[in-house]
Amino acid sequence: MNKILIAIIDKQVNNIDKIKYLLERFPELEVTRSGTELSDLEALLAERKPCLIWVGPTYGLGDIEELLKSYHSSLYFAKIILLVRGMSAELLKKAIKLNVHDVIEIPFTYNDIKDTIERAEMSLVSGRQDKRIRPKRVTIFGTKGGVGKSFIAVNLAVGLINSIKKRVSLFDTNYQFGDIALMLNLNPKYSVYDILPVIDQLDPKVLGGFLTTHSSGLMVLPAPLDITESTGINSETTIKILENLSKLSDYTIVDTSSYFSDDILNVIRETDYLCIVTSKDAPSIKNLKIALQILEKLKFPKENIYVILNRADSKVGITIEEIEDTIQRKIDVAIPSDRIVPISVNKGVPLIFDAPRSSVARSLQGLVKIISGPGRKKIG
Ligand SMILES: Nc1ncnc2c1ncn2[C@@H]1O[C@H](COP(=O)(O)OP(=O)(O)OP(=O)(O)O)[C@@H](O)[C@H]1O
Ligand SMILES: [Mg+2]
Repeated sequence: MNKILIAIIDKQVNNIDKIKYLLERFPELEVTRSGTELSDLEALLAERKPCLIWVGPTYGLGDIEELLKSYHSSLYFAKIILLVRGMSAELLKKAIKLNVHDVIEIPFTYNDIKDTIERAEMSLVSGRQDKRIRPKRVTIFGTKGGVGKSFIAVNLAVGLINSIKKRVSLFDTNYQFGDIALMLNLNPKYSVYDILPVIDQLDPKVLGGFLTTHSSGLMVLPAPLDITESTGINSETTIKILENLSKLSDYTIVDTSSYFSDDILNVIRETDYLCIVTSKDAPSIKNLKIALQILEKLKFPKENIYVILNRADSKVGITIEEIEDTIQRKIDVAIPSDRIVPISVNKGVPLIFDAPRSSVARSLQGLVKIISGPGRKKIG
């Protein structure tokens, strides 16, 4: 059984030892870290790893308030259990507002801890260290502008969080016309552009401060809001950001623009899975064929390429079989055309949430299943 990882933070070492002793009676827990400084708590929050952090009793809510605010998005992964000597309604209200997972009053019983752990276990599904899952990078590429890449990237990302409760980030590398933030109705404080001055010092902790967290828990790095800001972002910057972002995520989804720039080729080289989005028109299919040939030259593993046919039900005189025949491979996911798509895009609510029972959402769920699954056997 995978254990729930525990960290204990308190000013006094003897308190840490007492809590450790109590928690050791629970076989499903493993105390892996402890510390007496608030910087120890900060380091744990910066890591964004699923774990339960017991704080107190000599550190109170007031001591950790600022840290919880600065690392609010980390609390999707690390859950804080606050130990207090006196409980009040005011304290509880404040704790809830700061996203503290649980508050336990001292003295507590074995059953109090048991209840807390059971509650935490539910929300820490992602906390179990799953050895089968290593961080995966998924790039969404398209054979033409407007083919549905960003819409699919957004729904794949939130769909992964929703179904397998993992840490997922979304990186908008369509630096000129990126619209991920808009599609998620986010008002980001920072974009890729703001990272440029600190690119040489970039590490996961620094990067974490530039991310915007969606209500689903998705960590988003948006494209620049002003097109003039996109010019200074080069390929090395993109790769450095991607590497750091994947250290914070189980799945990193990269949305792209629709042409084979150096930037995109480099991203693809650093990618585990590539989803190529296409539509049922001749230029798209021709470009898909060219893209597949380029990928073959790059020796990108065939089995890790997924072809997504968007607006697959459009009656435009070309069938799925004819497309498969032309590209000499199967379409992996077919997404129908539906006006609920632009409606959800305009609302800024991912369709997987907005119309979960629609056939568009069902095909997107199919993609989520493929990406979260064990992967295909080697082809060719
Ligand atoms: N299956 C679908 N049915 C109906 N409309 C769709 C469908 N897929 C995408 N659209 C619409 O097409 C438009 C373009 O989609 P999207 O922005 O995702 O494309 P893109 O490939 O990211 O474009 P760009 O190349 O500009 O980045 C959006 O307004 C979206 O609502
Ligand atoms: Mg787009």
